[in-house]
Amino acid sequence: MTATGITTPLVEASDLAKGFDVSAPWLTRVISREPRRTVRAVDGVSFRIARGGTLALVGESGCGKSTVARMLVGLQAPDRGQVRFDGQDALAAWRAGRTGAGLRRRLQMIFQDPYASLNPRWRVADIVAEPLLEHGLVDGRRQARERVAELLGAVGLGGADASRYPHQFSGGQRQRISIARALASGPEFLVCDEPTSALDVSVQAQVLNLMKDL
Ligand SMILES: Nc1ncnc2c1ncn2[C@@H]1O[C@H](COP(=O)(O)OP(=O)(O)OP(=O)(O)O)[C@@H](O)[C@H]1O
Ligand SMILES: [Mg+2]
Repeated sequence: MTATGITTPLVEASDLAKGFDVSAPWLTRVISREPRRTVRAVDGVSFRIARGGTLALVGESGCGKSTVARMLVGLQAPDRGQVRFDGQDALAAWRAGRTGAGLRRRLQMIFQDPYASLNPRWRVADIVAEPLLEHGLVDGRRQARERVAELLGAVGLGGADASRYPHQFSGGQRQRISIARALASGPEFLVCDEPTSALDVSVQAQVLNLMKDL
């Protein structure tokens, strides 16, 4: 928010909460008279992020950071609370369907483990082109190929890498592919869930520098 307080924040989360049911199976509970148990992963989280701003969420393992990230991008529905993106009700947009009323293009997420977040059966070219085609950002396959080459170049990968599969890359290179894909739709907001913690220390620095440059 600016000093004048007029501008709406780009992202505004208010009172987000999410619990997970971790109860034993029904029969076990009946026999041993256990009540249902829920983990309160996130309880009453609120924050605002201005356009161009950054927010770092820090905390011990299991304190709910990833859950907050997933709720922001619509991968998990909160039990309570609100997410506004550029003034728009994001939760309603996620409920509305596949492209989330255009919101999916505007926010993207980079996951902790690039091995799990990239489809092993797809060539890099198709992985990076998917958001372009899905959101109609390119005119046909040829333009998609050109844009993919540009994006791969931006994250320091070569044109020949486009026809390879994720398993043919190192961890750091794989995370670069994830970054290229996340940037493909020209997002205004990027959620990064420990994008470097699965990487080797020397590669971590590389990826962080890359993200800083971009
Ligand atoms: N699908 C689920 N089912 C049950 N419990 C879950 C589920 N997802 C998360 N949890 C629990 O919610 C809590 C928060 O998980 P979360 O992944 O958000 O933590 P985190 O802060 O990202 O941790 P880390 O730093 O280890 O990545 C944890 O206690 C976890 O066990
Ligand atoms: Mg996490």
